[in-house]
Amino acid sequence: MHVLHVIGARPNFMKAAPVHRALAARGITQTVIHTGQHYDAVMSDGILKELGLPEPDVNLGVGSGSHAQQTGQVMMAIEEQLGARRPDMLLVYGDVNSTMAATLAAVKLGVPVGHVEAGLRSGDRSMPEEINRLVTDRLSNLLFTPSTDGNDNLIAEGADPMSIRFVGNVMIDTLTRLLPVADGEAALRQFGLMNGAGPKPFVLVTLHRPSNVDEPAVLARLLSALENISARVPVLFPVHPRTRERIARFNIPHQRTILSEPLTYLPFLGLQRHAAAVVTDSGGIQEETTYLGVPCLTMRANTERPVTVTVGTNQLLGNDTNRMQREVLAILDGHGKKGRIPELWDGCAGERIAEALVLDVAAVDLA
Ligand code: UD1
Repeated sequence: MHVLHVIGARPNFMKAAPVHRALAARGITQTVIHTGQHYDAVMSDGILKELGLPEPDVNLGVGSGSHAQQTGQVMMAIEEQLGARRPDMLLVYGDVNSTMAATLAAVKLGVPVGHVEAGLRSGDRSMPEEINRLVTDRLSNLLFTPSTDGNDNLIAEGADPMSIRFVGNVMIDTLTRLLPVADGEAALRQFGLMNGAGPKPFVLVTLHRPSNVDEPAVLARLLSALENISARVPVLFPVHPRTRERIARFNIPHQRTILSEPLTYLPFLGLQRHAAAVVTDSGGIQEETTYLGVPCLTMRANTERPVTVTVGTNQLLGNDTNRMQREVLAILDGHGKKGRIPELWDGCAGERIAEALVLDVAAVDLA
């Protein structure tokens, strides 16, 4: 069996690593293609190295562009690669443009597709990721779900139950493997977040969704709320390139909030585990904070990861920046949301996917 993985953007990398590792342990031939959707040293190479993924066999160098440009370029380049390499299975991850584009190219060539992180739905079609999820799941032959809501969504949409495998959350495989080496100490020192006794209470922030960063007034309100919180505790905000460009272009003031370059996986994980609270609009961070038991305030009206709210430490705040400030104060006063770890978020999801591929592929009608 020859498995070809397509990865493209930062959140793909931590999902592909455990699957690659589990298939390698079974001696399966693998190819890794990086579309180049993310290309900055920190957003891509630095993270890949920390995760122990092998150097991609090919980087397609697609880069940034409009959705149609990015999707079309990935499709054309992947079609050529699939034609030349003829894998038995394409594995795609998550919900970025590269995921959907690779899937579309593969199904038309008759290459079976497995989607890792299938079935998640926010119900919000204004998000490009929701479109990518719908298309990828509809076309994939094997649907690996991270939580049972994923199974429910797929069944409700008419997916073949035989194609669905509830395997758990691959992000958590990477987290549990690397947590012992992610103490965060260097990053805590770098940003002045240590005192004699250990880490100081601090708030960790990431924001990059168009709904939060593309409108000057919305982004200004968020930054202003963070400035207010910074009067009480340090706020560290590693800034995605898209957000950095907007803050500069809209000329949004910030004095106390600590803005840094994006961080690679290990220092960021180390900071998350020590944060008093996390404010974010990322999908993966909602999951990581749930696993770590750190209260998470998500600046979105909806989430495709509802288990982080029903079971975990996550709260959806929409665009309510006043509530964000109140919730952070409540957390600092010891009233943070408590949660549990969802089912099968146990570090073994990659193993289950590899088992399914090795043992079950023959039983599924992949034609
Ligand atoms: C993409 C994903 C999003 C994911 C996010 C994680 C889609 C539709 N979106 O959003 O789901 O949460 O990645 O980061 O696939 N840029 C750089 N350097 C890079 C990459 C991007 O400077 O290495 C800048 C460019 O100005 C680019 C902008 O960021 O135009 C947006 O990049 P893009 O890959 O289109 O989407 P993300 O916002 O990163």
